[in-house]
Amino acid sequence: MKLQTQLTIAFTTLLIIIMSIVSIMIYSLILDVLIQNEREQLQEKGDILIQFLMSEVNINNFGQLFGDESLQLFIYDGNTEQVVLSTLPENLIQYWMENYDINKYDQPLWKAGDERYVVSILPIYPDLLDQELVLVTPLDDLQEVQRDLFSRLIFIFLIGIGIISILSHYLTRRLVTPLTKLKYQLKKIEKRKFDEVKRVKATGEIKEVEQSVYDMANELNRYIQSQHHFFQNASHELKTPLMTIQGYAEGIRDGIFEKEASDRGLEVMVAEINRLKKIINEMILLAKLDSEENIYKEEKVKMADVIISTVDRALPLASEKQVKIDHYVETDVMLNVDTEKLLRAMMNIVSNGIRHATSKVVIRLYKENQQVKITVEDDGEGIDKEMMPQLFQRFIKGKNGETGLGLAISRAIIERSNGSISVNRSTLGGAQFTITFQL
Ligand SMILES: Nc1ncnc2c1ncn2[C@@H]1O[C@H](COP(=O)(O)OP(=O)(O)OP(=O)(O)O)[C@@H](O)[C@H]1O
Ligand SMILES: [Mg+2]
Repeated sequence: MKLQTQLTIAFTTLLIIIMSIVSIMIYSLILDVLIQNEREQLQEKGDILIQFLMSEVNINNFGQLFGDESLQLFIYDGNTEQVVLSTLPENLIQYWMENYDINKYDQPLWKAGDERYVVSILPIYPDLLDQELVLVTPLDDLQEVQRDLFSRLIFIFLIGIGIISILSHYLTRRLVTPLTKLKYQLKKIEKRKFDEVKRVKATGEIKEVEQSVYDMANELNRYIQSQHHFFQNASHELKTPLMTIQGYAEGIRDGIFEKEASDRGLEVMVAEINRLKKIINEMILLAKLDSEENIYKEEKVKMADVIISTVDRALPLASEKQVKIDHYVETDVMLNVDTEKLLRAMMNIVSNGIRHATSKVVIRLYKENQQVKITVEDDGEGIDKEMMPQLFQRFIKGKNGETGLGLAISRAIIERSNGSISVNRSTLGGAQFTITFQL
């Protein structure tokens, strides 16, 4: 069932329940009020009647006093215990005299068969005579008025329910419309038509959901784009060495390369095969870092030891390139990391530095504002500003680059260690990489 229909039904049901309870309460109240009112009216009529009795007007003309209203009354004499005057059947009065106490002025409803009566009793000059004037009205008359009032009330309620239902339908539609529009935008996301996704006007929580949907679509788009680039770059990177190998292999088979040329070809083939192996291994590692949970084995490690091990491993490469490595350790902080993986990340960054440095690479470990920082900088040519934002993506490489996977692997490892990495220009002239861990 549509949300709008559900909301309208819920509202209307609630309204009907409330109105029904109110109606029941009003229905019983009406009769009480009518009885009270009738008693007061009988009292007033009685007072007027007694005044006329005192002025000795012919008692048979009561009827004329109140127009054509047929008065139901009798006068009872307490001394003689007889009814002096009556407009009611005798047996009815007899029955009442036997069952009710006429001396009480506050009377309940008097019964006679199925009929009930509202009663008002007034004393007629209490100092001289012991006579009471009794006026009655059948309850049926009042109940008729009650029913009449009630049916009008129900009519007004029905009109109210109608108007409120229309109003609630309009209000819920305003509420539901943004959701319906959002549904269409989600359909576009499902079909990956990200360019066609439009913003939906909404307020409150729906606005927050809309914002999340919009952000999610953008993120998904970015992810799909990066996957697309990754496959393009990966196939390109794998195809180039394969074509070189194929060229040399076919040349040697067909006798185009002879002796030295053939030896040289075989060497190139081995080198390219090694390069292929390296790319494939790095791609596998990246995929594992992305998806495998237990590839990462944490332990408490002294960060100073990680720096020293890095320098030890980098020394042969540095001396080959005639580059000096300086390192400064300013803290003995321990962190929970996978040592081997972190060493690998450090080596990727340091060996990049050695490859691009003119004369030296500087490594620093220090603490700053509840953060542990490692910086690796060199005095080489540095990195172009335009390249910096994508530097950590897969297969992004500049001049003197190799496979372009090193920094992507480093970032994946550092992020798994709850750290972050950024690149900047170094005061030495080259690039500066900063790794940050929160304490
Ligand atoms: N210290 C640096 N100075 C100048 N450029 C650098 C430096 N470090 C990285 N780069 C640039 O960033 C690119 C990406 O580096 P990355 O380590 O990801 O790949 P790579 O070194 O080319 O290949 P590999 O996968 O073998 O590490 C490099 O190709 C290089 O152009
Ligand atoms: Mg590298």
